[in-house]
Amino acid sequence: MCGITGYIGTNDAKEILLKGLEKLEYRGYDSAGIAAFNQDGIHIFKEKGRIADLRAVVDGNVNAQTGIGQTRWATHGAPSKINAHPHQSASGRFTLVHNGVIENESELKAKYLQDVTFISETDTEVIVQLVEKFSKKMETEEAFLKTLRLLNGSYAIAMLDAETPGTIFAAKNKSPLLIGVGEDFHVVASDAMAMIQMTDQFIELMDKEIVIVKKDRADIYNLNGEVIIREPYRAELDVTDIEKGTYPHYMLKEIDEQPLVIRKIIQAYQDGSGSLRIDDEIISAMLGADRIYIVACGTSSHAGLVGKQLIEKLADIPVEVHLASEFGYNMPLLCEKPLFIFISQSGETADSRSVLVKVKELGYRALTITNVPGSTLSREADYTLLLHAGPEIAVASTKAYTAQVAVLAILAFVTGRAKGLSLDLDLVKELGIIANAMETLCGAKEEFEQIATEYLPAAINCFFIGRSIDYFVGLEGALKLKEISYIQAEGFAGGELKHGTIALIEKGTPVIALATQAVVNGSIRANVKEVAARGAHTCIISMKGLDAEEDRFILPAVHELLTPLVSVIPLQLIAYYAALHRGCDVDKPRNLAKSVTVE
Ligand code: M6R
Repeated sequence: MCGITGYIGTNDAKEILLKGLEKLEYRGYDSAGIAAFNQDGIHIFKEKGRIADLRAVVDGNVNAQTGIGQTRWATHGAPSKINAHPHQSASGRFTLVHNGVIENESELKAKYLQDVTFISETDTEVIVQLVEKFSKKMETEEAFLKTLRLLNGSYAIAMLDAETPGTIFAAKNKSPLLIGVGEDFHVVASDAMAMIQMTDQFIELMDKEIVIVKKDRADIYNLNGEVIIREPYRAELDVTDIEKGTYPHYMLKEIDEQPLVIRKIIQAYQDGSGSLRIDDEIISAMLGADRIYIVACGTSSHAGLVGKQLIEKLADIPVEVHLASEFGYNMPLLCEKPLFIFISQSGETADSRSVLVKVKELGYRALTITNVPGSTLSREADYTLLLHAGPEIAVASTKAYTAQVAVLAILAFVTGRAKGLSLDLDLVKELGIIANAMETLCGAKEEFEQIATEYLPAAINCFFIGRSIDYFVGLEGALKLKEISYIQAEGFAGGELKHGTIALIEKGTPVIALATQAVVNGSIRANVKEVAARGAHTCIISMKGLDAEEDRFILPAVHELLTPLVSVIPLQLIAYYAALHRGCDVDKPRNLAKSVTVE
């Protein structure tokens, strides 16, 4: 959601900013803009729509060695050219891009800016106007600091001052921002991915810090103006990880990467003797908890539901799963010794982060399971487990989901083993079987394309049903289908249908049923019969050993606790092909952002 780039060096900034913004497209946006600063002043180009639309309006004759850019995902004001960033102060002296939300915008306007005419509907404009106001009586750096001290909310900011050439003023609070360090340049970026082609050396910024960035130095201060010394770290990003290669879409590439991700996870969590291992501190936090609260959003919360089963069955600890956006405002009565597990691919989701902040205020311990080392949720929790899935670019999460389930399985298993429970499970072997089964499924794409063609060409809705763990996978299948194909899709517990939902079934309604659990195999099949009797177009995806003649697809047999790792793949692929056939923008579905950094 929103992305910032900045460059200061010796090359033409425009192309570097635009390329960087293209790398941030995956975060979701609806307008974009850049500001290029040269001897003639600050030149602004912005446009509603895609980076390609912005490129079309950028004047190639403007050569500038300093610049800032932003992709905007509308929060305050519609997606439009006027609301697109960068925004300028009334005199045009200051130019600024901003990610995040300023919560006290109205108060600040009323108190300090009554005489200023605002051009856009954004909350951002208040920041740049405040800097201009204060700069009349102080140096820019002081005015910037004074402004930041007044802001409530989240921000990542890059700002140019027409009277201070050769400088980018940057700041961060709750929204990510990094400074990239090069030989004779510095870059500013929301994500290392945007600038990894330029440098792999990045300086992390903490909340409420500012940086005065020049071509050859970057000076960090806190909001009291005290100097902060921080060395750059090496971003371990492989440039090829963020390219599509020969794939038409990132989503397809990421679906295909799942077997490799599972193998990487096994390796990452094995010790020298091949036994699965997790930091002792994390395992003692697990063992010390009388209840675990999993907090997450979207796909990550669906992985959490599977995680609950795994932890309860393998580690014998009760688990509750909560949506972050609900938990924060309606906290349940907590047990005496809770442990919180935050699951987040990006590690930046604002809803989850706001719960983490509350949990820390209450003095409880938290573990983050994330794909992004150094992300906000990782830094702010007591412990982190990494997913090792490589960058996930498509908005629709696929490999992060399976990685989350696999890491939760390892966490549950190692905890159960440490507790002395006798576990009849060789998890390394079973995850190896899973990786092979995933490969088989990824090799059967035509089958899933055929299912999408047969069941969903003109569908206005689609239901996913399952019982037990299959129900949770059905929720994820429905989310995948709705978010990228815009078909209204819902996941239901098979047994609940007759308590209301079955009223929606009519002739031709697609119902995709999962049947991978022996204990409910009979009952889910009975549910399929109930909907078929009312005209539903049913598609059963079962597992070898539990299959029946009427099944549409039979998954390779895997351990019954780990079936989500394979049963989700057909659902990901069916969603992919349904979206493709409808001409939808698979990787960048409408209205969605990859990293949801506002609550
Ligand atoms: O980065 P997170 O895992 O915290 O993101 C949570 C959700 O926004 C995310 O899983 C979303 O539901 C997916 N894009 C769905 O595919």
